[in-house]
Amino acid sequence: MSAKREQWGSRWGFILATMGSAVGLGNIWRFSYAMGSNGGSAFLIIYLLSVILLGFPIMLIEFSIGKRGQDDAVQSFKKIAPKTSWYIAGGLGVLAAFLILSFYGIIGGWSLRYTYEYLSGGIGGDSSAFFQNFIGQSVSPILWSFLFMAITVAIVLMGVKKGIESSSKWMMPILSLLVIGLAAYSLTLGGTAEAFAFMFQPEWSAFTDPEVYLAAMGQAFFTLSLGMGIMLTYGSYLKPDERLTSSAAVIILLDTSFALISGLMIFPALFAFGLDPTEGAGLVFIVLPGIFDALGDIGIFVGLLFFVLLTLAALSSSISLLEVSVSFLMDRVKMTRKGITLLLGSIIFLLGIPSSLSQGAMDITILGSSFLDFMDLFTANVLLPSSALISVLFVAWTWKKQDIYTHTDLKQGAVGTAFLMLARFFVPVAIALVLVFGIFNWLFA
Ligand code: PHE
Repeated sequence: MSAKREQWGSRWGFILATMGSAVGLGNIWRFSYAMGSNGGSAFLIIYLLSVILLGFPIMLIEFSIGKRGQDDAVQSFKKIAPKTSWYIAGGLGVLAAFLILSFYGIIGGWSLRYTYEYLSGGIGGDSSAFFQNFIGQSVSPILWSFLFMAITVAIVLMGVKKGIESSSKWMMPILSLLVIGLAAYSLTLGGTAEAFAFMFQPEWSAFTDPEVYLAAMGQAFFTLSLGMGIMLTYGSYLKPDERLTSSAAVIILLDTSFALISGLMIFPALFAFGLDPTEGAGLVFIVLPGIFDALGDIGIFVGLLFFVLLTLAALSSSISLLEVSVSFLMDRVKMTRKGITLLLGSIIFLLGIPSSLSQGAMDITILGSSFLDFMDLFTANVLLPSSALISVLFVAWTWKKQDIYTHTDLKQGAVGTAFLMLARFFVPVAIALVLVFGIFNWLFA
């Protein structure tokens, strides 16, 4: 434990850094592909409900553990409740961050490769064939992922503050404008009616599929960076009088809007080009180049801008993922920050190789999914909710009521009571049910 805990410079610094972690590949790449593969509107509705009813209380709870414990993802639990096993939540979170980064680095590499492609003239013709050909190679995608991880490591080495905090300030607004602009264009391409039906017209039968619930809940955790100790760590840098509830609300609102607008960017174009929404992990890498190509010469510039920003958004998230394991190890082994960052970065990179190879170069599947998809589904749908479940039980059932109110910044009264009910009963029961039925269905159906 460090003697003097760092603190955020300002409330907006905190919100922006948290946004930097939350807004990433999850909002564009993962959101569209998970929604596409899980029936569209039913997924969207359950995802929105998960964000409000699970995401919001869990984010507050993670902040409050960090704010009270004033330490890292595992140590905060140990400090608040010595000689108990609640810290397992933090341990699961660190493990999840480690595994997620292994495949996040692969997708980050794809994004870098596409940036390069738009620097050198763009992608014309059959974007699906281009994509399949690229990810089906054994060496090239791994080299791009190496580059992505090297940049991540370099930034974490230099310290997160200056680079990330200040870059988020201009990056996020530009990325937002770009996504809005592209969505507006995509809505003119002729696939709008089909896209709206797919996204917003409830297909009731999909609500009976436990796997859709599992996928939607997993997406909510992934996109909000929950269940990983990140919000906990960020909360530990907060001043005691910080207004947590409104910060959490702002972060959640912005992250969700981002995902929704990127859905409006992807799906109308997808239907206009007659593509299949269940394409899987390659969805955005196939659909967007199609739009850019249709835009003509300016499309190359827009494409470049888009992939540069997507890469930067991915970087600001991958850094927070690496930082979790780095800060965890730093307190426990006798090595410098530099040594640990390099070591962990290398291990995570190596761990990503099977994910990359599973995209066509080699046949590596688990439970019917490619290795990459399996890592993605297992971490987001199982590890993150489990870790969050333990954190919620810890706070809601072992803290005194007054402590809960103090550290979540809620007041006694209607809202406080509603939060308490949600955290004590609804959230744990909902997560447990979805986990049990979803996993059962995933494994055996
Ligand atoms: N929330 C990030 C995204 O949407 C991914 C992420 C998950 C980052 C967990 C940090 C921790 O891309």
